[in-house]
Amino acid sequence: MDQYCVMGNPVEHSRSPWIHARFAELTGHSLQYSKKLVPLDGFDAAVAAFRAEGGLGCNVTVPFKFDAVRISTSQTPRAQLAGACNTLHLRPDGIFADNTDGAGLVNDIQSNAGFTLAGRDVLLIGAGGASAGVIGPMIEAKVRSITVANRTLAKADDLVTRHAALAQRHGALLLSSELHSVQSPFDVVVNATASSLSGAGVPVSPAVLKPGALALDMMYGPAAAGFMDWARAHLAVPRDGLGMLVEQAAEAFLIWRGVRPPSAQVLAELRATLA
Ligand code: ATR
Repeated sequence: MDQYCVMGNPVEHSRSPWIHARFAELTGHSLQYSKKLVPLDGFDAAVAAFRAEGGLGCNVTVPFKFDAVRISTSQTPRAQLAGACNTLHLRPDGIFADNTDGAGLVNDIQSNAGFTLAGRDVLLIGAGGASAGVIGPMIEAKVRSITVANRTLAKADDLVTRHAALAQRHGALLLSSELHSVQSPFDVVVNATASSLSGAGVPVSPAVLKPGALALDMMYGPAAAGFMDWARAHLAVPRDGLGMLVEQAAEAFLIWRGVRPPSAQVLAELRATLA
């Protein structure tokens, strides 16, 4: 049977095997998808071993997304721009790196949450790997502006500089900011910081939320609860990262199998499973 996996450390709580198993069932594809806990210094060897066993693709999660770019033989433009890869396609002619996180976020916001991004002002909190993966696809979704706010301003500046040419091509405004100095209202606020922020600990002013703004945390479950409570308390529409998780997986499935699985159905099933 065709073999796929997710590699990470930690990886035990990954929902990806469940999601890909449902995608396979619903599309009539026959495959196995496992999770592999990879030693922190063992990513290259783990990919080589999996490939030698006939593995066809893997998802890559913390902390290996940068290593995945390094070991690949070619990268899609969106993976290059992100500097990080969450999807490896292990083909006979090479290792192809892609990054489906941004497409996952955009699809979740537009298709699942029903919120159009074109013309919107977006605040992105955080400037790590998670943020890097989503700026390009949001620019391509024709947002009006993205403000990257981060505890360490220099990292926000770096992301803005890296995406400046793409933003210019699409007529999008790209700005960087310190967390506490951002005060203007936004249509969409995305929390891409690594920490699970408690309600009181959300590091930006509630003034950033327009009434009815979409406030999305890339985490889900208890890790997203504080941010979502904060959003709800300030009349925004809270959303967790479960939809982004399913949608980035759907993009990976499309790359590997050539078929787009019914992601909205699988998201609804996953929510029911976790409830
Ligand atoms: P990831 O790949 O998940 O993005 P990362 O690259 O380590 O992880 O980035 C973590 C992000 O969360 C960074 O933007 C980090 O801010 P710094 O660049 O200043 O380190 C942010 N972050 C982590 N803990 C935070 C906290 N307690 N408050 C605010 N931002 C935090």
